[in-house]
Amino acid sequence: MTSSNIDFVYQNQIFKIKNPDSNEILLNYIRTKLKKIGSKNGCSEGGCGACTVVLGELKNNEINYKAINSCITFLPTLQGKQLILVEDLISKEGSLHPVQKAMVNYHGSQCGICTPGFVMSLFSMFKRNSKFKDNEIKDSIAGNLCRCTGYQPIIKAAKSLKNKNKFDHFSKNKKSTINLLKKINNKSIVIYNEGKKYFAPRYILELKKILKKNTNSELLSGGTDLSLIVTKERKDINSIIYMNSISELSYIKNNKKYIDIGASTPLIELESYIQKYYPDFTKILKRYGSPQIRNVATVAGNIATASPIGDCLPLLLALNAKVVLQGLKKTKILFLDDFFISYRKTKLKKGQFIHSIRIPLFRNNTFKAYKVSKRFDDDISSVCAAFNLEIVKNKVQSVRIAYGGMAAVAKRAIYCEKLLLNSLVTDEIIHKAKKALEKDFQPISDMRASKLYRIEVAKNLLEKFFAEIKQKKLIGIYA
Ligand SMILES: Cc1cc2nc3c(=O)[nH]c(=O)nc-3n(C[C@H](O)[C@H](O)[C@H](O)COP(=O)(O)OP(=O)(O)OC[C@H]3O[C@@H](n4cnc5c(N)ncnc54)[C@H](O)[C@@H]3O)c2cc1C
Ligand code: FES
Ligand code: FES
Repeated sequence: MTSSNIDFVYQNQIFKIKNPDSNEILLNYIRTKLKKIGSKNGCSEGGCGACTVVLGELKNNEINYKAINSCITFLPTLQGKQLILVEDLISKEGSLHPVQKAMVNYHGSQCGICTPGFVMSLFSMFKRNSKFKDNEIKDSIAGNLCRCTGYQPIIKAAKSLKNKNKFDHFSKNKKSTINLLKKINNKSIVIYNEGKKYFAPRYILELKKILKKNTNSELLSGGTDLSLIVTKERKDINSIIYMNSISELSYIKNNKKYIDIGASTPLIELESYIQKYYPDFTKILKRYGSPQIRNVATVAGNIATASPIGDCLPLLLALNAKVVLQGLKKTKILFLDDFFISYRKTKLKKGQFIHSIRIPLFRNNTFKAYKVSKRFDDDISSVCAAFNLEIVKNKVQSVRIAYGGMAAVAKRAIYCEKLLLNSLVTDEIIHKAKKALEKDFQPISDMRASKLYRIEVAKNLLEKFFAEIKQKKLIGIYA
């Protein structure tokens, strides 16, 4: 079934928007059309969390509650989901939600501009976890900034929720919400509005047909990069194809040789899945944007942007990942090494899309990754490094090292790798390998870091890697 109307569940009813503007931003719709002004606009770029709302998505007959940044979400992507705003947390009888009560009891608000966003992030954590640890509290609010209350009262409020009864009016209405979500969950969307086109196919076959006729469309996954064209550059996107309603592209599988990740899988799912195989991949993902970002952003989007500071890229290069590209007729599988051309340029052609990403499983190797940024959470890397080495009896048997933030695109340290391969790990060889990085990279200076800082950090991270494996422990202030 195809429709030009968007259906979503709001306040336990189905809401319909007829033929919306495909470039309309959800926060704008909430504040100006729904006339709910609890959600605030602080930055329009996903950086402050003031606009945080929660989406309920149907998964395995359950509702998955996800905090998102409504300031960088295109309105039509609401199709088939439940929208929960800070105004909806209060019960019909007028009593505050346990999360709101906790914020009041622990004085978690002063000027209040950030408060609705914090409440919604904590609400999402409250609904997602039956139990939560202190680090999960901090992680859940990593995408919310407060400049006057400070974080301690908010953290105390969250801790007080640990032993609270999780039954709230959303639990009470869960069955009927699921029924409503099921009713609206089964249609593809095609919108033509004032010269702008928007497609949300549900199957790969449908996607290919749309791509054939609309080769100049922008593919939209989490939108955490693409939406900024509208919110920051203030340009229109004339034709959008939304990938995340194609369930065939949302999966993580493992065939014992490699982990296979469908293009639409949100990073938050990869974060927990990959922990068992590559704990440092999870460590980097936990510092990737915020939960609001990772709830929607995808590895495919990260790869396709080919940004020099895309955090997945050095990790995937070090792990020798492959990217599966699908065209209208053919499928091409490329090593990621061969996918990037130059600054924000890839081999992806018009009419092609990223279908999936394959990460090999190295059983005998040591894989480590490090991110250095000005701020620990919710910040872009100055330098990101990934090391994947097999060392037997102190001799390097195989080596792949890649860095982000050191060149126009994430890149392997080929000279450094050559020097290390088949060498015994000694202080002298580590010294020479550090020196070789000067041959591999000529970084630039920008607002994040100077070129001198970048090259020094890159060398130090290499030394840290060897020191950590020698001492069999983590070294550093965050260890
Ligand atoms: C507040 C904030 C914090 C961020 N923090 C980080 C960070 O810490 N580290 C980091 O690396 N990045 C960060 N980013 C950047 C961004 O989140 C990532 O690049 C993200 O992975 C993009 O994925 P997406 O699914 O949102 O892509 P989208 O924005 O949907 O798309 C990005 C690009 O990829 C293309 N694309 C999307 N899906 C496909 C597909 N299946 N096939 C082909 N092309 C496709 C789109 O056409 C577009 O050109 C941040 C962004 C924001 C707003
Ligand atoms: S307004 Fe700052 S994250 Fe949305
Ligand atoms: S209460 Fe003022 S910014 Fe947080």
